Amino acid sequence: MSEGRADAVTLVTGAAGFIGSAVTDQLLAEGRRVVGMDNFCDFYNRTAKERNLANARGLPGFDLIEADIRNREAVLDAFRKYQPETVIHLAAMAGVRPSIEDPALYTAVNLDGTVNLLDAAVENGSRRFLFASSSSVYGNNEKVPFAEDDPVDHPISPYAATKKAGELICHAYHHIHSLPIFCLRFFTVFGPRQRPDLAISKFLHLVSRGETIPMFGDGSSSRDYTFIEDIVDGVLRAMQSCGDPALPGYRVYNLGGSEPVSLKQMIDTIGQVVGREPSIDRRPMQPGDVDRTWADLSRSRNELGYEPHTSLHEGIKRQWAWIRETGQIDT
Ligand SMILES: NC(=O)c1ccc[n+]([C@@H]2O[C@H](COP(=O)([O-])OP(=O)(O)OC[C@H]3O[C@@H](n4cnc5c(N)ncnc54)[C@H](O)[C@@H]3O)[C@@H](O)[C@H]2O)c1
Repeated sequence: MSEGRADAVTLVTGAAGFIGSAVTDQLLAEGRRVVGMDNFCDFYNRTAKERNLANARGLPGFDLIEADIRNREAVLDAFRKYQPETVIHLAAMAGVRPSIEDPALYTAVNLDGTVNLLDAAVENGSRRFLFASSSSVYGNNEKVPFAEDDPVDHPISPYAATKKAGELICHAYHHIHSLPIFCLRFFTVFGPRQRPDLAISKFLHLVSRGETIPMFGDGSSSRDYTFIEDIVDGVLRAMQSCGDPALPGYRVYNLGGSEPVSLKQMIDTIGQVVGREPSIDRRPMQPGDVDRTWADLSRSRNELGYEPHTSLHEGIKRQWAWIRETGQIDT
């Protein structure tokens, strides 16, 4: 990373969330100043988000702005006050299925909110901008593994469409304002603090209580699961490289685990980790859900030095241990 001020601020949007809080903790551990922005939206409960932030809130290098990224004035005020050198934009309405119920909310937060941040970054001379995109932009592409230059013109959910649109608006801002921007396509992230709506978290709770798991489809759909520590490492590497004159000023990177696992295998792994045979209720595939994801990591390996290390089994063990340590479950 081209060296900026020693006290340079990194703004992390969505800092109270699953990925945002983990990124924040790592930046703080490295001695950086972090300003978090989050509106504690009710997609899941505030208690979980406060727990995510507990470590950061106790550290002097951290400030939190409770604000909605749709509120343009609040975003501009925050940038004027803190002048962030780096923006790591993770705040979003996430989740495929709820985006089908309320697409207007998804476009307002994921697109209008992103434009507010881009405008504020340009106005205040930020030096780099990272945008959280998603493997969902690949839709039901047949060619695997998915590579960054593959066509991504056929999203199959409003959520995926907002992420692709976010990448496009980032490209336009880079072109017009020369702001270095990297778009990071995360592939199904799991581990401690995982969002409660995501399958691994839901299934760990259901299996531990001896309740039935809803399995959508025949169990053969597959995902390239990525452990949270690997994602954090990828985000920090991207931060180091964004703005490096040896790399393009606008670039898309896959951050995946590169080992796709079927839904049935994932459920079996949960059973092994919890020590209880899962009982499964088979249901039809859900609209918006893609058949498979699988990241081609050639570009992120070559250009960022990214390399995922944690297997699904090891990662689920660590997520399960965290659920028990935080008292979310009686065992
Ligand atoms: N978790 C995954 O598997 C995954 C995969 C691909 C992409 N992503 C992307 O990564 C990012 C982080 O995802 P996550 O899983 O940590 O989700 P999360 O819901 O845990 O975190 C998102 C945070 O953004 C905040 N937020 C939502 N709307 C906001 C608004 N209008 N103003 C300010 N803050 C707002 C929420 O309160 C939350 O704390 C998102 O952009 C998501 O689309 C996640």
